[in-house]
Amino acid sequence: MSRPAAEDAPIETQVLDGLALAKSLRGEMAEEIGKLVAAGLRPPCLAVVLAGDDPASRSYVKGKQRACSAIGMDSVEHLLPESTTQDELLELIDQLNANDGVDGILVQLPLPDAISAAAVAERVDPAKDADALHPLTSGRLLAGTAKLVSCTPLGIMAVLDHHEIPIEGAHAVVIGRSNIVGKPISLLLQQRNATVTMCHSRTRDLAGICRQADILVAATGRPCMVKADWVKPGAAVIDVGVTEVDGKLVGDVDFEAVKGIARLITPSRRGIGPMTITMLLRNTLLAYRLRKRV
Ligand code: GUN
Repeated sequence: MSRPAAEDAPIETQVLDGLALAKSLRGEMAEEIGKLVAAGLRPPCLAVVLAGDDPASRSYVKGKQRACSAIGMDSVEHLLPESTTQDELLELIDQLNANDGVDGILVQLPLPDAISAAAVAERVDPAKDADALHPLTSGRLLAGTAKLVSCTPLGIMAVLDHHEIPIEGAHAVVIGRSNIVGKPISLLLQQRNATVTMCHSRTRDLAGICRQADILVAATGRPCMVKADWVKPGAAVIDVGVTEVDGKLVGDVDFEAVKGIARLITPSRRGIGPMTITMLLRNTLLAYRLRKRV
């Protein structure tokens, strides 16, 4: 049976310019920090800790520091060797917790095998939890009382709002159930009255469920897993995955194939990445304001 021509017409897909949106939000934060400093206060400060010498992690950490300095925020970097023990790392976190000049703490993941990410997350003072990985912080998100929220999920919500994607009543499908993306984005979408389906590696008929999504969030780290026929025409598709394949960064979504079907798609470069860093700055600034009551 032939379908009406209007239904077949390719959809004009908006492609997120994550760098441009990030720049505009960072500009607002730079202004805020400028005002605090003009009033005689010190700028907020983020401490970034990296254990080991994974080149990708090193480059992320550099990017975070550059982003701090571009908005007038201070940052301190602690580069530790791969051989660092869990006790040594916890001792450093204790020092950063006690240092009144540090407002936000981020311990870059992944950590060396000998260190438990859960133990590290639990050691960070919840008042300085810029990465929002402490169980108290996640518990507050669950309770609906969170102030500091995981950076990538916050970035995704900002993108949906910027592109005026309706959330209330929408069916949102999230693929991936990590503590850092899948679980918190599911809660944020549900708090905005979306109906959320959480999918994962054992989900049956994943493609069929994805096809029902008005908002589809892919956070699995499996390159090009989401195919064109998994996407409902007019859906907003948020691709969080970034995997290096043959020297190229590839997302979880088959970007070229989904263009022309989705209403909004995020690319793997200049997509959600710059938004994640922007929300790290936002959390650090907020932690500073809450601690200093300014
Ligand atoms: N490694 C990759 N992404 C992240 C992140 O958002 N936070 C931390 N701590 N490590 C990461």
